[in-house]
Amino acid sequence: MVIAIDGPAASGKSSTAQWVAQRLGYRHVDSGSLYRALTAAALRDAAVDEPWSGEQLVTHGPRVSLRPEGSSFVVRIDGADCDAEIRDNAVTSQVSRVASMPEVREWVNAQVRQAAQTHDVVVDGRDIGTVVFPNAPLKIFLVADPWERARRRLNQRLERRPSDDEVAEETDLLVQRDAKDATQTVQAKDAVLLDTTYLTQPEQVERIVALAHAVTHRPLVT
Ligand code: DC
Repeated sequence: MVIAIDGPAASGKSSTAQWVAQRLGYRHVDSGSLYRALTAAALRDAAVDEPWSGEQLVTHGPRVSLRPEGSSFVVRIDGADCDAEIRDNAVTSQVSRVASMPEVREWVNAQVRQAAQTHDVVVDGRDIGTVVFPNAPLKIFLVADPWERARRRLNQRLERRPSDDEVAEETDLLVQRDAKDATQTVQAKDAVLLDTTYLTQPEQVERIVALAHAVTHRPLVT
């Protein structure tokens, strides 16, 4: 069973996917973490301003692994945890460029599909319902107003209520990132669109869990 959750940056995909996986006894795969880990592995070896090619980037692929851990698959570089490294600014500022390369996308898609061969998964990303698992029985496209996405992201990062100026600045950055990732961020025709602007996280999770039950235990129509 595959549940695909796509949507723009900071729409809450990863945290929602993680909760849904826990509730259903599935494992969460964060496809963005693979793009980030490949970028981080390359950055350990090369200067940012080098003209990277997709072919060259995927040579770092064997250093990156997805390890099943509880209700997640955790990404590792050279066998070690790398969560802080893959979320830092050096990686974030380069990852859209890396993710635009077809060789890199094929490599990530192969890792994600492999994880789904042995587990029921909730996969979050940008193109999971369109490219990676076009036949997934449940596809969700999460959206939220940019201001609200920026506010949530800052709340999490700063662990306090952000000021309006801070939210405005973060909204600009998010809108710029949306533009960079726009080609890859596609809503599947059969995806359920979930606008979370006015939903709490538990409400989002409940809606997706209910949809998953409807898909897996749907009574026969006679
Ligand atoms: O969701 P995120 O910020 O961790 O994603 C990191 C980058 O990878 C971002 O530039 C979007 C890109 N990405 C993608 O192109 N396709 C995916 N399935 C997942 C992420």
